[in-house]
Amino acid sequence: MIQKINELLSAFEIDSSLIGTAEELETFRISYLGSKGQLKELFNELKNVSNESKKEFGQQVNAVRMKLEAFYNDKKEALAPIKKTSVDQDLSRTGEGITQGSHHPLSIVRNEIIEVFNRIGFDVSEGPEIEDDWHNFSALNFPKNHPARDMQDTFFIEKGEREMALRTHTSSVQVRVMENSQAPIRTISPGRVYRNEAISARAHCFFHQIEGLYIDKDVSFADLKQTLVYFAKAVFGENAQIRLRPSYFPFTEPSAEVDVSCSICEGKGCNVCKYSGWLEILGCGMVDPAVLDASGIDSSVYSGYAFGMGVERIAQLKYKVNDLRLYSENDMRFLKQFK
Ligand code: DAH
Repeated sequence: MIQKINELLSAFEIDSSLIGTAEELETFRISYLGSKGQLKELFNELKNVSNESKKEFGQQVNAVRMKLEAFYNDKKEALAPIKKTSVDQDLSRTGEGITQGSHHPLSIVRNEIIEVFNRIGFDVSEGPEIEDDWHNFSALNFPKNHPARDMQDTFFIEKGEREMALRTHTSSVQVRVMENSQAPIRTISPGRVYRNEAISARAHCFFHQIEGLYIDKDVSFADLKQTLVYFAKAVFGENAQIRLRPSYFPFTEPSAEVDVSCSICEGKGCNVCKYSGWLEILGCGMVDPAVLDASGIDSSVYSGYAFGMGVERIAQLKYKVNDLRLYSENDMRFLKQFK
């Protein structure tokens, strides 16, 4: 018995001196301390020892066990990865830089447009994204069977008894402002709008608009045009030009679509403006008297103009973003560029 104990101890001296990694320590543990390990074998040997010697050998084997276990525990601690001290414990650590966020390009453009119109006396108004038929369509002179009410364009939702919809444009806010205030009115209404469209580089199921509304006595189309010239130069630079093309909207008469000279090729023609030198940026017109009357403004006394533009479109021209999906993908590589 004594020989076995000594053999184990000398093997241990050699093996323990060779351990340098956690894996090697684990191999050691299994070999010596494991349930089928050498120490276990030694304990098993005890049953072959005479009764008189049992106590003495028992104590010796136990001493070996303690020696091995102590070695194992010390080594385990020595090989463990260094524990991180928490930041507030280590006062000598250098500070970690805080990375600054940036504004979303659509916020930058929206804020700029708001500022441009603030300068000429427009205030800001907002309305709900979940709208009723009256504010999104009926009050804006959409005939009951107008294709814009079609399921293809509008996300309809049930809200209790009433059928509601996600607003398809911010023109709904015009109606709310006219219902709730007295002329003269000068307001712009930024906000998110929704359309039931397949998502692609050129279309999305939600996007952002800014609506403008000006109502007073004797407002004319010339006022509208001059405001748009001012807007285009403020946002796209002194050399920007606009042109108006006759168009149709149920809520304005007459109506126009407005193009701005392509800021990318400066009107020379490029693939963004499809070699025309012009890019469409908004719809506008004189508010239809029926719309004024429906919202409680006396059309025999007041007239007004309105316009609506897509924020993504303006941002595309300013920053040359050619895929609408980039605005909502939250890709840091894209967003970081707008510091
Ligand atoms: N609401 C229109 C749209 O979503 C844009 C628009 C056109 C707004 C003419 C207006 C306007 O206020 O007068 O396409």
